Amino acid sequence: MSRITLSRFLIEQQRSANLLPAELRFLIETVARACKAISHSVNKGALAGVLGEAGTGNIQGEAQKKLDVIANDVLLEANEWGGSLAGMASEEMDLPYAIPGQYPKGAYLLLFDPLDGSSNIDVNISVGTIFSVLRCPDGVTEPTEADFLQPGSRQVAAGYTLYGPQTMLVLTVGNGVNGFTLDRETGSFVLTHPGMRVPAETREFAINMSNQRHWEAPVQRYIGELLAGSTGPRGKDYNMRCVGAMAAEVHRILVRGGVFLYPKDGAERPGKLRLLYEANPMAFLVEQAGGAATDGRECILDIVPTGLHQRVAVCLGAREEVEIVTRYHAA
Ligand code: AHG
Ligand code: MN
Ligand code: MN
Repeated sequence: MSRITLSRFLIEQQRSANLLPAELRFLIETVARACKAISHSVNKGALAGVLGEAGTGNIQGEAQKKLDVIANDVLLEANEWGGSLAGMASEEMDLPYAIPGQYPKGAYLLLFDPLDGSSNIDVNISVGTIFSVLRCPDGVTEPTEADFLQPGSRQVAAGYTLYGPQTMLVLTVGNGVNGFTLDRETGSFVLTHPGMRVPAETREFAINMSNQRHWEAPVQRYIGELLAGSTGPRGKDYNMRCVGAMAAEVHRILVRGGVFLYPKDGAERPGKLRLLYEANPMAFLVEQAGGAATDGRECILDIVPTGLHQRVAVCLGAREEVEIVTRYHAA
């Protein structure tokens, strides 16, 4: 059988499932094209002078890497002219990005973490791009911050591109999760991982253990039980992996299972990950793949955002594990 490219996959989704208006298909293809350009920059690394600090900071007080800024610019430039967007918001920009006046406006809002796992760039470890698509509220042509503050359950598409040993785009339009591998010879994303599912059973977890002193009691209890292994209450030994890029953690969970936590990590912070750019799109993907995602208390997708750059605690992956963590928080 001939290979199914992302373009063909999207057209077939549009025809059969009727899930995908042409405007949304165009938008996803444009995001994919931008990710190919980002992939080129990531791959060239020092040869293109793209490693290291940009010398600037973002609204979260984080030092920006050159590739954070490059990836943000690539996504803005690729998506501003196509006519399917009313606005964009990014982890790297204080305010929503208005579509320049010379271009037509469309029905959607695009939100992204242009480069996820920035601390991995200079040491040649996987990084990613995470994106989320919402509908712009009816009648709004100049969206403000408030128009982006929609719960994750309203996402119409979400995905990530992982720049690892292979570049892979993993996507949901609310009809399961499908993974595409970039074929550098043809320049196409090819469907290689159809119908991705989070395995129900796992023996693997991911968490940054260096924050242990900050965790609340339910997380201490849960991780303590995993660490206790076969002689503890879970009755089995667990392995631990932690890449430092949420896109890579989620990808591992979609392929071979597991659970990922980034809990509250200090008196002042509910966690590190951003609700709109990281937690929501990943929660949508994981739920579409049969897993679960909560902040320890409620489903990530039910949280009504109060700010564009809001942070949230995250626990996602195998449903049973997430349910245990959430039950411990309720106890
Ligand atoms: P970003 O590079 O976009 O700021 O995101 C990094 C995030 C997430 O991808 C990762 O899981 C986490 O931060 C790692 O943070 P720690 O180093 O604190 O574990
Ligand atoms: Mn990130
Ligand atoms: Mn980022």
